[in-house]
Amino acid sequence: MSQNVIELQNVKVEREGGTTFIYLNRPEKRNAMSPQLHLDMCEALEWAEEDDATKVVVLSGAGGNFCAGQDLKLYFRGTEDDPKARARARRAAHSWRWDKLSNFPKPTIAMVHGYCFGGGFTPVIACDFAIAADDATFGVSEVNWGIIPGGLVAWAITQVMNYRDAIYYSATGEQFSGQEAAAMKFVNKSVALQDLKPTVLELAQSLQAKSPAALRYTKEAIRAVRSMSREQAFDYLNAKSDALKYADPEGGRKKAMSQFLDDKTYKPGLGAYKR
Ligand code: COA
Repeated sequence: MSQNVIELQNVKVEREGGTTFIYLNRPEKRNAMSPQLHLDMCEALEWAEEDDATKVVVLSGAGGNFCAGQDLKLYFRGTEDDPKARARARRAAHSWRWDKLSNFPKPTIAMVHGYCFGGGFTPVIACDFAIAADDATFGVSEVNWGIIPGGLVAWAITQVMNYRDAIYYSATGEQFSGQEAAAMKFVNKSVALQDLKPTVLELAQSLQAKSPAALRYTKEAIRAVRSMSREQAFDYLNAKSDALKYADPEGGRKKAMSQFLDDKTYKPGLGAYKR
């Protein structure tokens, strides 16, 4: 049963159990991102971060499409002669699509169906997980209208695509399907459209069985070590492991060890400890 939780102009937020769905919500414009939508997304993510009932966030688009990229009319043309408005829109666009999402303390899943173009790539990549419909259509389409994949898109795609694919798709603007996105590991997997939401919910539920602190520290660690040397990573990971012992309000490590070694009630290799 889904529940509307916060009212915003261009973003829809619904909660199903501990899973909060945040939808870009301009379906008649294929969820192209206007300055207002960026501001709304900042608000929605800030809200979800503090909402205790939200355990996992799913990012998607309303009306059958994920996102048609930046709104050419409102984001680009509409702010061309207004540097302050342009700066405000750019700040909000960057803030939610990369800073807020990639540092989000709870697990995030991009659920992609229909079209996903240009600036819509950044939030897909910033989410921890991405699951697409087999027939979703992805395109780094900037070159088709005479611009580069700016606003971090070119940088973001090189985080998840190999060099050849990054150049190929951004220089040709050629589309690729959800199935192709899964084959190149741009998304974790693709499934038939009718299975998309159930698959995402299944992943969201399995994540909710884990220790929230261990999950948070795990994703922070994986992100951070990518730009570290081996020596830095070794030091950082030791410090991070120690920090988790103190920061985990559940005391998961102790509880799990006792369930395995003393009570013999679970196998860490096969699933999460009983919380
Ligand atoms: N910016 C502004 N408006 C957009 C938009 C965008 N990125 N994408 C779609 N829209 C608007 C259209 O202008 C149209 O508005 P209108 O009804 O007022 O004329 C409406 O959304 C529906 O779009 P339409 O093109 O008629 O739908 P479609 O289903 O035939 O095609 C797309 C959908 C996504 C293939 C097509 O709209 C498109 O190519 N959009 C641009 C995608 C892109 O390259 N984005 C990168 C930006 S960085």
